[in-house]
Amino acid sequence: MKTNLFIAVILLLLSGCSAKEEGLDITQNIDYCVDKAKSAAQTLDAPDKYPRNIPDGETNWKTKGVRDWTSGFWPGILWYAYEASGDEEIKKQAEKFTQPIELIAHSSAQNHDIGFMVYCSFGNGYRLTGNEAYKQIIIDAADTLATLFNPKVGTILSWPRNKQYQHNTIMDNMMNLELLFWASKNGGEKELYDIAEKHAETCMTTLIRPDFSSYHVAIFDTLTWQFVKGVTHQGYADDSQWARGQAWGIYGYAMCARETGRTDFLETSQKLADVFNSRLPEDVIPFWDFDDPAIPNTSKDASAAAVAACGMLQIAELTNDEATKEKYKNAALALIENLSSEKYLSGDANQAFLLHSTGHHPKGSEIDVPIIYADYYYLEALLKLKKMEELN
Ligand code: GLY
Repeated sequence: MKTNLFIAVILLLLSGCSAKEEGLDITQNIDYCVDKAKSAAQTLDAPDKYPRNIPDGETNWKTKGVRDWTSGFWPGILWYAYEASGDEEIKKQAEKFTQPIELIAHSSAQNHDIGFMVYCSFGNGYRLTGNEAYKQIIIDAADTLATLFNPKVGTILSWPRNKQYQHNTIMDNMMNLELLFWASKNGGEKELYDIAEKHAETCMTTLIRPDFSSYHVAIFDTLTWQFVKGVTHQGYADDSQWARGQAWGIYGYAMCARETGRTDFLETSQKLADVFNSRLPEDVIPFWDFDDPAIPNTSKDASAAAVAACGMLQIAELTNDEATKEKYKNAALALIENLSSEKYLSGDANQAFLLHSTGHHPKGSEIDVPIIYADYYYLEALLKLKKMEELN
């Protein structure tokens, strides 16, 4: 009996060590997310209403319908929470909120965010359960997204219902390529891979500026299909650096490097990350746009920090050079540590994990509030970090 207890204590200590980074208790932070997701799920009983943000002074998620671009993040959080806990109640909730998103795979493409919607929900669900019905829905969703590809431009059209721009492609769209790569490797058409690769190539020479800062949107002429100009729709100005746009680029190119093995994609991700890291404020959580002249009297964007952290962990996993690995892992760790501080954690204040994200500042929308995708990528970053620690 005594021996068993002794072994249990040693195992506990060892597991604690592997999930701890200096100043950051990864396991404790994952548990915090699991507990909060489980208790929020108890108050969200309509499966087609998806948490999106928590307005200032409120405590509960404001929801949107299944067609909102953010619908996949809540089921994605539940799948991650199930992965971390093995809790069957959470799995039931994840299934409940995943199923209505099938509609997105099987209707015409109304936006480019089908990857966010379907891959975060069904993608994680398939990864964790092997449910064959999910697999077909993911492949169908990839086919639907591919209908927005314009071979003359070499990109997937973003915002198909927006008449403000000609053919346009936004940096956020890099994230949706994961759905195409996955489908092409799991029973879908090979063409899906080619579309994703071509899209990433075209964005490298249009959305990314020579100094490896980036535009939000690349505009293409609809007669010649040539690149016309870059604009920064959700940022401060066309030549400014919108923080989340840069973060989508870091993550998007690191993911493309993983899927294709291309070193130019990995180098692009690293250079985008270098720019991002070189412009961070003292607490390393970026302001919503690095060039807002109101800094420091403007809002932060915790979501950009969480997305960038996931991207930098991916860079660290892909690179063979030990110094480079350490550099990006440490940069990611700094972001995660600061997000895990009292200043950024919601604690008991509301249903979210994190405070202080900014959605669309120029529109005056979702400024300095909890937003669902910040929570999704924060939990993803914690889980990635835990897996990396366990492998070491
Ligand atoms: N995809 C929209 C955003 O990042 O706000």
